[in-house]
Amino acid sequence: MARKVEFRGGAQEGEGAHGGGAKRRGKGAAVDHRARARELRAQREQLPVFGARGAIVREVRRHATVVIVGETGSGKTTQIPQYLLESGFSRYGETAIAVTQPRRVAATSVAKRVAEEVGTALGARVGYTIRFEDCSCDKTQLRFCTDGLLLREILSDPLLRRYSVVVLDEAHERTLRTDILLGMLRDIQRGRRRRRQLAAQGQPQGAGAHTRFGDDADGAAAGIGELKIIVMSATLDADRFSAYFDDAPVLYVAGRQFPVTTYYTVAPQADYLDAAHLTVLQIHTETPSTSGDILVFLAGQEDIENVERLLAEAAAHLPRAVPRLLVCPIFAALPQAQQALVFEPAPEFTRKVVLATNIAETSLTIPGIRHVVDSGVHKVRGFDPRIGESLLVEPISRSSARQRAGRAGREAAGFCYRLYTEADFAQLPEDAVPEIRRCQLTMVVLQLKAAGVDDVLGFGFMDAPPKRALKHALLELYALEALDDRGALTALGRWMAEFPLDPSYSKAIYASRAAGCTREVVDIVALLSVDSLFYVPADKRDESNQAQAAFRSRDGDHLTYLSLLRAYQAAGGDKDWCHEHFVNRCAMRHVLDVRQQLTRLCARLAIDPAQSCGADLDPVLRCFLSGFFHNCALLQPDGSYRSLNGSQTVHVHPGSALFGKKTPAIFYDQLVFTSRLHARAVSAVDPLWIAQASPKLYGRLASAAP
Ligand code: CDP
Ligand code: MG
Repeated sequence: MARKVEFRGGAQEGEGAHGGGAKRRGKGAAVDHRARARELRAQREQLPVFGARGAIVREVRRHATVVIVGETGSGKTTQIPQYLLESGFSRYGETAIAVTQPRRVAATSVAKRVAEEVGTALGARVGYTIRFEDCSCDKTQLRFCTDGLLLREILSDPLLRRYSVVVLDEAHERTLRTDILLGMLRDIQRGRRRRRQLAAQGQPQGAGAHTRFGDDADGAAAGIGELKIIVMSATLDADRFSAYFDDAPVLYVAGRQFPVTTYYTVAPQADYLDAAHLTVLQIHTETPSTSGDILVFLAGQEDIENVERLLAEAAAHLPRAVPRLLVCPIFAALPQAQQALVFEPAPEFTRKVVLATNIAETSLTIPGIRHVVDSGVHKVRGFDPRIGESLLVEPISRSSARQRAGRAGREAAGFCYRLYTEADFAQLPEDAVPEIRRCQLTMVVLQLKAAGVDDVLGFGFMDAPPKRALKHALLELYALEALDDRGALTALGRWMAEFPLDPSYSKAIYASRAAGCTREVVDIVALLSVDSLFYVPADKRDESNQAQAAFRSRDGDHLTYLSLLRAYQAAGGDKDWCHEHFVNRCAMRHVLDVRQQLTRLCARLAIDPAQSCGADLDPVLRCFLSGFFHNCALLQPDGSYRSLNGSQTVHVHPGSALFGKKTPAIFYDQLVFTSRLHARAVSAVDPLWIAQASPKLYGRLASAAP
């Protein structure tokens, strides 16, 4: 190999080992459930958190809220909920324990593991519920879910009566939904307490009760228990959580971390993808494969697919004597069956390379990792009222970099290769800015309103979002007609909040009722829920491009996707057909799942999901426009597109059906900023439609039209 990435450093981070490392699971052992349970039992008792079991249960009994801090891998997520279950915090058939995760993958994979440890079928005593997928029943006592899902439950169950305990996991990530949940849970805890006090004084429960819970039937409040809240975090700054919950006690679980030797590049790397794949090859060829697997942190799916391709090309040319490379990607949108692969040990004479987003930073523990390659970037959702929502690739924080390095020292001493210089590391911010301070708030404001929080500006956030962003969200919801001019939820707004979707999509679905094209709109919303409908192998770009052309609509991507779905259905989802047409079959199956859920929801909300507009698809685009009028751009005399709401130059994504085409106006599903602003999922529309979709904002376009 001629090209190399040069590293310097070699300083060790982390403390010496405490206790023995967890053994890597043996492969291909015959399934013996009892032996497996015994094996797991022993493993469970070796986890650092086991020693704190008594103290944890005691503190949770004593206090309404407890904050627990522990190193990643110490057993917080899998063990603490079980301790509570074993200690009777949930009553069979009555109350359950909810454990929230910021990510779907974590919720499902952890639930699976815990069901195994408890010795129950997944979906029975232990289960999970995530958007569009429910693997639980009324008897489920331990439910893993996404934080977004629990937020939705508050809409139908304002006091979360079915839960005795809510465990808020990965709180240090401070995702938007975690932050909202923190505020809502504190409110609910206080609301329940007040109810109990009133009940104890023999007062009618409605009187003086918190307004948000005021419409709750009085009688039903009898016997309502306290809501226990457990906030779990992998970083040490727990004081803020404690202060937020009236000085809740903080428990520290000692970690088990082996030393990690960290290297930095000698010079800044122009292309971290190139550097990442070269570094993997260097590690692979220069250290024996028995020295452990490699975990590479990248920004997102695209990065991962690129590095996967680079590695596949290089792996084909490895000398025979060098062990094989098994590349396993993991990112949120990856189908579950493939996600599961990262947890499997590699076959003999093979080294596993896991390519991950920051999903593997704290929420998933991948066994066997001894080498970490840190690109130093992640993808963050950003929001600027002028350009709308964006996904930006940005440098991580120092605290993230430390977490990433720590992944190499879980089972033995490890190595971390940072693809940036030590000077660059020193320039990184210590902590990431909480998501709530930098992202789009439309959906959460709608949810807060639907949950009865009238004064969103006065809501008790742990970190208040910028007023400007809140006001923008209120305005946007007003433009979508989800709020009236006094800021109160409209009937339409209440209806929109029922959908686990961004309000723009639920608005489009709503519009489809009158337009008679619910079937098409729901299909497209489902299609937009996955990242890549096509699978494009690096060496077959042209062929796959040609195959895709068969589905391409002149009107753009929304209708292109629709015709892809129709063709897929006509082919009966056939595997060979997908292969021939470079269609991502897993993604299509996910689309069908989402579609089914949305169809059910429509039927429940009195919209006929079968209504179809036939061959004339204009109404479909107009429905989307009724939700996406803020994502429009007009063609300029110089041939560029300029966004309507921020006068930014917007480029059509190269993968779009409209790439290189000129049309008077476009709307898009998403703007992605990388080196420039790219519009994704783009369709052509008549400028007049934009005016009609939102007379409040863009009526002027109608008067300007000839
Ligand atoms: O939450 P925390 O990072 O503290 O730890 P955890 O997720 O509860 O993981 C504890 C241990 O359970 C890990 O070190 C893994 O060895 C094991 N585990 C596993 O083998 N498979 C899973 N799906 C999850 C955890
Ligand atoms: Mg965890």
